[in-house]
Amino acid sequence: MKTIAVLTSGGDAPGMNAAIRAVVRSGCENNMRVLGIRRGYTGLIGGDMYEMNIRSVSDIIHRGGTMLYSARCPEFKTEEGIQKAVDVCKANGIGGIVIIGGDGSFRGARDLSLKGIPCVGVPGTIDNDIACCDYTIGYDTALSTIMDMVDRIRDTTESHDRCSVVEVMGRRAGYLALNGGIAVGATSILIPENDFDVQHDVIDRMARTQGTGKRHFIVMVAEGAVDKLQEQGIHDSMALAKYIEEKTGVESRATILGHVQRGGSPTAKDRIVASQMGYRAVELLKDGIGNRVVAMQKEQVVDYDIYEALNMTKKIDLNLYKIAMDISI
Ligand code: ADP
Ligand code: F6P
Repeated sequence: MKTIAVLTSGGDAPGMNAAIRAVVRSGCENNMRVLGIRRGYTGLIGGDMYEMNIRSVSDIIHRGGTMLYSARCPEFKTEEGIQKAVDVCKANGIGGIVIIGGDGSFRGARDLSLKGIPCVGVPGTIDNDIACCDYTIGYDTALSTIMDMVDRIRDTTESHDRCSVVEVMGRRAGYLALNGGIAVGATSILIPENDFDVQHDVIDRMARTQGTGKRHFIVMVAEGAVDKLQEQGIHDSMALAKYIEEKTGVESRATILGHVQRGGSPTAKDRIVASQMGYRAVELLKDGIGNRVVAMQKEQVVDYDIYEALNMTKKIDLNLYKIAMDISI
């Protein structure tokens, strides 16, 4: 393999820069030409790339976001879009690509690999929702941000004897809400993986703790649980705060943390895991191995066939949920 490329795709995640750094440096150390593709598959289709060297990735390990920028590219999901990408790879002598992103991006990596361009996926998403991985780059940083933000919300919630509904990201997964909820001692945690009933799991829990003298409450809601709220006639997190106020008499506010969770300097864990994963991706490509996803399993870096990885399922630890509920009383 003489030339490899690297791109970041989908929602960005803190630690993506550390992964890019590892790919570029280990590629250069293995005497490969390394091209940085800007804005994910959009840049690939458009041929927007430049040659990188070991100094191109100086001073980025501690920065959030991605120096290669990211994008979502609907055109890449079409046959013509993929063919354009293949043509660009051939024109630029690209022998393999490291794709840092979530499972949507890995579907693209699978399609490209099938067209003869070996790709290796590196899991980067704050949601931690990639089935083959115990851990995805960005998750630890996002969790720490959530904890810091909710600690602040707690100060004012406590001062006013209020209830704060806090909605955190996680399009289809409750990892951030569950673990964030445990870290801040939330009275209730609503996640998409667990059936819940607002009366039983929020209102009754609050009443029980009120009975023992508790006067302020945090209710943690995963973005992906909003559909289940709607099934119970509650439109969103704002409406949930209103509902709680009506039912309990406790003044309530809602905060949607939003994109603050996606930014910021990556934690040590995210920098270290990203460095390991980026390094492994280049080891695979160096040996001409593509159509793989690098993953973290039981603290070890492993890799899977992309097809196999995309067909795996991951279960959230509902025992953790039980622990959270048993002690947040
Ligand atoms: P993530 O990688 O974070 O899951 P997305 O699901 O938005 O983010 O996917 C990122 C990009 O990956 C999409 O904009 C598209 O270019 C590509 N992609 C997603 N799904 C597919 C698919 N089924 N086939 C080919 N490419 C896809
Ligand atoms: O997948 C990461 C994520 O942050 C999800 O948690 C969230 O639903 C989505 O991306 C938001 O995407 P956008 O930045 O396009 O609004």
